[in-house]
Amino acid sequence: MIETHCSLKSFNSFAIEAQAEQLFHLTSRSQFPALITHIKQAKQQNMPILILGGGSNVLFCEDFAGLIIKVELLGVDITETAHDFHLCVGAGENWHQLVSDCIDKGMDGLENLALIPGVVGAAPVQNIGAYGSEFKDFCQSVEYIDLASGEVQTLNREQCLFGYRDSIFKTTAFKNALITQVQLTLSKQWQPQSRYGALNDLDKTQPVTAKQIYQSVCEIRSTKLPDPALLGNAGSFFKNPVVKKELADALLSAHSTMPHYPQPNGDVKLAAGWLIDQANLKGHQIGGAAVHQQQALVLVNRGEAIAADIIQLAAFVRDTVKQKFDVELAHEVRFIGAQGETNLAEVLANV
Ligand code: FAD
Ligand code: EPU
Repeated sequence: MIETHCSLKSFNSFAIEAQAEQLFHLTSRSQFPALITHIKQAKQQNMPILILGGGSNVLFCEDFAGLIIKVELLGVDITETAHDFHLCVGAGENWHQLVSDCIDKGMDGLENLALIPGVVGAAPVQNIGAYGSEFKDFCQSVEYIDLASGEVQTLNREQCLFGYRDSIFKTTAFKNALITQVQLTLSKQWQPQSRYGALNDLDKTQPVTAKQIYQSVCEIRSTKLPDPALLGNAGSFFKNPVVKKELADALLSAHSTMPHYPQPNGDVKLAAGWLIDQANLKGHQIGGAAVHQQQALVLVNRGEAIAADIIQLAAFVRDTVKQKFDVELAHEVRFIGAQGETNLAEVLANV
């Protein structure tokens, strides 16, 4: 149940070598009381605590001097009404496997979110999204255990405060919330989401099926995004920046082909990958870390990268984009230091 001085290399998709003081495998709800006791002991020793899923959105900046709880709770319960399928899914289930199983069973809806690495319990945290769909579109509620009190609580979709790569689970107030399971609703009145970019190419002369969208999404992703099993990475390193319309207009007058997505409040979302690409950073390498050739928003571990290589590359990319376009990039990847979550600015200030 608990490992000590444990290597995290196989628990993060960047494949960065780092160690955790303690690692607790949470495989069953019957372990909740033991987990809470263990957390109390860790806190008495001033040890930090980190919740981990598949490790596909984290960068271990150094060894973690505390207790990692690896969430491995399994189980998928399906019920149905005349209109919907209702799924109750354990936080440790693999997200892509869930999507794939749903498509195979004729429960459509999640197809645009195929091939996103990681586990179900992490999906609400940044409200995973791709190709015009987001986790929130299917979320009914999220169950979590409050690690401070041991109480099991549930939030409905509105209470989760979902946004672009954001939710209540990213706030400091919820740092003690360990997501245990999620409830999803898939409507039997399925509507395709095929307007997004490359999905437009699907043959419009015949009704498109969820399986076709699923296959297209898998194909598109496989051409652009590196497979972490072959090339360490954490997907998009930065979020797409949302800027004021004046800045977007100024950039558009100089770069008329710049991708831009007007937001309901008048601001404009830009494509960070395009900005990094236009700054000629594709392939740029520092130590063992590089900007991916096929998708500039992805930083990769070319084999022997250490965390410092990725941190320096991230800083270089951020600074170059700021200099060239006056746009601030914020990282999507969660930076984990010895004492818990940190960020690029803090890490750079401490070197
Ligand atoms: P982890 O990396 O383990 O954790 C991520 C964060 O969630 C951490 O802060 C962790 O503390 C917290 N967390 C994890 N589990 C729990 C829990 N049970 N309770 C509370 N907090 C928890 N993301 C997208 O949104 N869209 C994409 O298209 C996409 N494509 C990707 C492609 C590649 C090749 C890769 C490597 C990543 C991609 N990602 C994408 C990012 C990543 O897959 C998602 O963020 C995913 O949800 C992370 O899941 P995980 O289990 O690996 O989480
Ligand atoms: N672009 C370039 N050069 C590049 C990369 C992108 O010019 O090197 C351009 C593309 O041509 C396109 C635009 O930038 O016009 C956007 O690119 P893309 O469609 O590949 O998507 P993205 O904005 O880079 C976002 C998400 C991905 C998600 C895809 C598909 C973020 C931060 N990233 O990427 O999510 O899979 O859209 O919906 O929002 C992740 O979060 O880890 C992730 C991979």
